[in-house]
Amino acid sequence: MDTLASYDELPYDSLPLPETQPDFLAAMARLHGFDAPKPSCARILELGCAQGGNLIPLAWRWPESDCVGVELSQVQAEAGAAFIQALGLPNVRILHGDLAALPDDLGEFDYIIAHGVYSWVPPSVQQALLEVCRRHLSPRGIAYLSFNVAAGWKTLQPLRAALTGRTAAELPAPARFEQALRVLDELAAEWTDPVLLKEVAYLKSAAPSYLFHEYLAEFNAPMAFAEFADQLDAHGLRYVGEAGPRNAVVELEDAWGLMPEGMAGRWLDAEAALDDAFAIRFRRALIARDDAPCAQPPQAEALCGLAFYADLRCDEEIDLEAATEQGFVNPAGNTFPIAMPAMKAAAMALSAAYPGALDYAALRSAAAQVLAQYGASPELDEAAFRDALLQVVLLHGVMPTVATGSFSIEPGAVEPGERPRANALARQQANTPGWVVSGARHVALDLDAPGRVLLGRLDGSRTVDELAAQMQAMLAQSGRDLPLERLRELTWQQLWLFARQGLLV
Ligand SMILES: C[S@@+](CC[C@H](N)C(=O)[O-])C[C@H]1O[C@@H](n2cnc3c(N)ncnc32)[C@H](O)[C@@H]1O
Repeated sequence: MDTLASYDELPYDSLPLPETQPDFLAAMARLHGFDAPKPSCARILELGCAQGGNLIPLAWRWPESDCVGVELSQVQAEAGAAFIQALGLPNVRILHGDLAALPDDLGEFDYIIAHGVYSWVPPSVQQALLEVCRRHLSPRGIAYLSFNVAAGWKTLQPLRAALTGRTAAELPAPARFEQALRVLDELAAEWTDPVLLKEVAYLKSAAPSYLFHEYLAEFNAPMAFAEFADQLDAHGLRYVGEAGPRNAVVELEDAWGLMPEGMAGRWLDAEAALDDAFAIRFRRALIARDDAPCAQPPQAEALCGLAFYADLRCDEEIDLEAATEQGFVNPAGNTFPIAMPAMKAAAMALSAAYPGALDYAALRSAAAQVLAQYGASPELDEAAFRDALLQVVLLHGVMPTVATGSFSIEPGAVEPGERPRANALARQQANTPGWVVSGARHVALDLDAPGRVLLGRLDGSRTVDELAAQMQAMLAQSGRDLPLERLRELTWQQLWLFARQGLLV
């Protein structure tokens, strides 16, 4: 096979995925007791990388890394290669080819990423993917492999069956997608199961490529966790832990009535039980070679060697006196409950420093300072603080990193100047249709069309007033007349957002 027609016809939305950042993966490995290779100069392989929307920003951020992507869809691989060439980025390449037939001389990689691939390829390619991990992972390397989980997919199978059964497989992908939308309307009228109806409603507004490749693809084979673990075992690999948010860990411990120490030997069973208990649909597994030492569960003590970042806000007055639970919300709209005053103070300190990171000691003292500043007792119970931090880290409210001093972007430091200039990656992403702009910490930025145009124009040649006037003229063309003063205000707002996301240089 020399290409994958379905992805040529309907390319996947190729986004930066924060959980695949090597500094995050290395931090997760550290929580599980071992040191993964240094991210800043790592070799990184991404399998099924689509057009490189995840890999290219990683290569950009770490110029000393060496990044290789492999993609079977010719359209996507060529789009990625063209983007890289236009950017002139020397440390990343995308190979057009089958991950099951990689060139022999690729060498070892410190990080291997395969997001959205394993469950969506035939069994022979699944086996090949695990072989690639074993053959090409360096001794302390980490692989990130996401897959659909049988426990949660059980209830969704009727939806996949209806969509595949009632649409014509021989149609080109975009036409079949249109047919699927009509089937969703029929199902919404026919069905009563709330889980299925919720998914039907979600699919109606989801990205077309998601609906198509998840529900109409030839392969989508959710797997039970135990079977996945067996597959790893058969390939000389081991499950290290979860890279995805784990809000159910604590409940699992409660449900099993076991202390974490008692669960150690039965960790894989516990993971499987978790999937059943919470109807888990998707996992992001961290994998290492089976001779890599690793600990279960994640160790709170290991937090002391890491740094952290977070972008959280709380919409009510923060109570730093009492351990009342309050919701902290991230830009994606996810809410993280925090009760301990010191942890609330830590969330405030991290958000003020975002996108910069604070190492553990700095975080502790910043939290104590915030408490003191607001007249609360700055005393911290060290063990309780670490446990609370681990909880919010496992939820992904606070992200851990091993890259303390080496986060070279230092984005907060660059304020919009007289003639604002965005970095070349951000400008090219903004100016190229079909590309998502990646912000600091590898997040996908949700920019509207005028925001993209503005970002694409930030080449340092225009003053803010000139940019505002240009935006005013552009909006007027589409029938939106706004006074120049308002446009100036909006332009400044956008520029500050770009600055916070590390896009300005
Ligand atoms: C669901 S998409 C995920 C894309 C990307 N990893 C992401 O998460 O945005 C699966 C990707 O794997 C690619 N793919 C499927 N089989 C492949 C193979 N045998 N070798 C290389 N790439 C493959 C597809 O073309 C597609 O781009």
